[in-house]
Amino acid sequence: MTSEKSSIIIAIDGPAASGKGTLAKRLANFYGFAHLDTGILYRGVGYLVLAKGKEPRDEAAAAEVARNFSLEQFHEADIRTAEVARAASLVAAMPEVRAALLDFQRHFAHNPPAGFTGAVLDGRDIGTIVCPEALIKFYITASPEVRAERRWLELRLSSPGISVEQVLDDLKRRDARDSGRDAAPLRPAPEAELIDTSHLTADEVFARAQRLVDNRLKAA
Ligand code: C5P
Repeated sequence: MTSEKSSIIIAIDGPAASGKGTLAKRLANFYGFAHLDTGILYRGVGYLVLAKGKEPRDEAAAAEVARNFSLEQFHEADIRTAEVARAASLVAAMPEVRAALLDFQRHFAHNPPAGFTGAVLDGRDIGTIVCPEALIKFYITASPEVRAERRWLELRLSSPGISVEQVLDDLKRRDARDSGRDAAPLRPAPEAELIDTSHLTADEVFARAQRLVDNRLKAA
């Protein structure tokens, strides 16, 4: 389904709360590219499975939801909970779910919405599986403790009473599942630019990434 229309693609991968989403938004804004947070797709499938009263481990139910997936079936607020994050990482390990969502992601990358000349996709397997042809690939990471603190600051509004330890525990479980699965495990593409954001501000991460993208654009 992917057409040959040329589009500049920036691929960003990394674990939860590493800062990849912030970087993706900023790069997209700066270069005038469209942005797709691919975690939304897996969260959406996880949410819709739960909404049907099914178990996220139910492969047949998850695959059916993924085959009929569209972004219009849920709201952003529905998918930003710890329960949906857990369901997302369970359905994301299912090859049938991943296969059903692949075309959508590739189509977006190669045919960004009108007015955009490129696309920034962030997720877990963008540089390795979805867009191995990307102009540049980033792998963004940070220590589990720093990531848990960041995620806790976001989650404590929607889940009052949640502790940093609980969030850290959850993140570690999710990291292990995302990195240990057979289907598109989380790992840096061999040629990815690695940035550890543990001790960097969002501005510093952006400045570093922008320099690298500019160099790549000049060389292209
Ligand atoms: O990035 P976010 O935390 O929203 O992703 C939710 C879950 O979706 C991740 O834990 C991961 O299991 C899955 N995911 C994935 N591949 C992607 C993006 C997200 O497996 N490209």
